[in-house]
Amino acid sequence: MPRVMDTRRSAFPATFTWGVSTAAYQIEGAVAEGGRGESIWDVFSHTPGKVARGDHGDVACDHYHLWREDLELLRELGVGAYRFSVAWPRWLPNGSGRVNPAGSAFYDRLVDRLGEIGVEPWLCLYHWDLPQALQERGGWAARDIVDHFGEYAASVMQVLGDRVQHVALFNEPNAVGLLGHLLGVHAPGLTDLHAYAAATHHLNLATGATLARLRSEHGGWRLGTIVNLQPVVAASGSEQDALAAELLDAAWNGNHLDPLVRGHYPAATAQLLEGAMEHGDLERIQQPLDWFGLNLYSQLRVAADPASLFGLQLLEPPEEAETTAMGWEVAPEALSRQLVDAQARLGAVPIVITENGAAYRDSPGPDLEVDDLRRVRYLERHVLELEAALQAGVDVRGYFVWSLLDNFEWHEGYAKRFGLVYVDYATQRRVPKRSFRWYAKLVRDGIIPAAADVD
Ligand code: FCB
Repeated sequence: MPRVMDTRRSAFPATFTWGVSTAAYQIEGAVAEGGRGESIWDVFSHTPGKVARGDHGDVACDHYHLWREDLELLRELGVGAYRFSVAWPRWLPNGSGRVNPAGSAFYDRLVDRLGEIGVEPWLCLYHWDLPQALQERGGWAARDIVDHFGEYAASVMQVLGDRVQHVALFNEPNAVGLLGHLLGVHAPGLTDLHAYAAATHHLNLATGATLARLRSEHGGWRLGTIVNLQPVVAASGSEQDALAAELLDAAWNGNHLDPLVRGHYPAATAQLLEGAMEHGDLERIQQPLDWFGLNLYSQLRVAADPASLFGLQLLEPPEEAETTAMGWEVAPEALSRQLVDAQARLGAVPIVITENGAAYRDSPGPDLEVDDLRRVRYLERHVLELEAALQAGVDVRGYFVWSLLDNFEWHEGYAKRFGLVYVDYATQRRVPKRSFRWYAKLVRDGIIPAAADVD
C-alpha cells in the first residue's frame, strides 16, 4: 500500500540542491589517453597487493568516452547539480607547467554539456589523484606542493570559471592524510607518522592559500572544501578509551576543520602537526568559506591500543549492528548528530552533504535490473535525518548521493558498488537501479518517498 503523502509538507526549500557525486579516477579510465600523465593511483593500484583482486582504474566506467551518455542519466535523474572532479594529471600531466589541451578540452565539453541540460557543475579540484611526478618530489609531505596546487587550481578556474560557480578545493583531506600517509591503504601508501603530519599540514595550507588566491581572482565563485566527518564512539567508559576517542575525533574530524575555521589545531594533535608548521601558517589557513562540504557514511568506534602507531584501534561494528557491504555500520542518526555538531564548529557557514550512500552486493536480474531495496532504505533513513537537522535549524543547503555510477572503490576495487546506476563492466552497459527511481522521485517532489512507493 502506498503511504498517503499528499498531506506531507516538505521541509526542503525550493532552493535546496539535490545532486550526485563522482570522482575522476573512479570513473574516467583512459589513463593513457588524451595526454594524461600518471597519477599516484595508477602506480598504487598497479602495485601488487594494494587493491583487492588487482583491480585498477585503467578503464573504470570508461566515462572519458561515455560521458555524454552518463550526463543523460543525470538528466533522467532530474538532479540540479553534479559534483565531479578534475584529474590533475589530465590537466597538467607533470603536475605543473603547460596545460594539456586535450585534458582541458574534456572538462570544457563536460561543463558546456551540463549547462545545456540544466545541471549545475560542482567542481572538485582534488579527489586524490595526485600527479606521480609531484609524488616523486615529495607529494603532500613536501611544502612546495602548496604552490603547485594553487597554480593548478588557478589554471582550471581560468578555463572553467566562467561557467563553474561552486568549487570544492579538496575531497576529504583527512582520508588523504590518514589512509594515504599513516595507514598506507590508499595512495601513496605510506605508513609514516612524519609524512602524515607534514601532508596534513600542507593540505591545510593549500586549502587556505588557494581559497585566498581564488577569491582574489574572482569574487563570484562559491568556494568550499569537503571533509569526511563521522561521530566517534568510545568502546567503553574507561579513561583510556575516552582519550583514544578524543584523539581520533581530533585526527579525523578536527585536523582540517579547526585550523580553517578556528585558526588552531585540536589539542590532541597540535604537537604532532606543529612540527611541520612555519611562522604565519595558521593565519594563512584560516580563511572564510562560502560553504562546507560534509561527507558522511557511518560512525567510528574506537578503543585505546598502546601497541599501535597512533595508540588506538578502530573497532568493527557490534554483532547486532546492521552493516553495508563495506562493513560500515548503518547509523542514520549519525547524520543529524554530525550536522548539528559541524554547524556548531563552523558557525554561520552553510553546509552541504556532498557524499552519502551505501555499497551493497547488488544482484542483478536477467536484464541487469537491480532491486536495491536496502540502498533505498539506507538513503531514505539518511534523508529523514537530514530533514530533521534542517528542521532543527542546521543551515544545510544541499545533498549529493555517492554515487551516480558503480565505480572503482579505491583499495576495494570494483566489487563494492555504490551506484544509483549499475555498471556491467564487461560491456559498460548502464542500468538504473530502483534507488535511482526513488531518488528521481525525491528530487522531483521534494518529499521523501517511502521505499515501497517506488519499484
Ligand atoms: C569517500 C570517497 C569517495 C568514495 C566513498 C565511498 O570517502 O570520497 O570517493 O570512495 O568514500
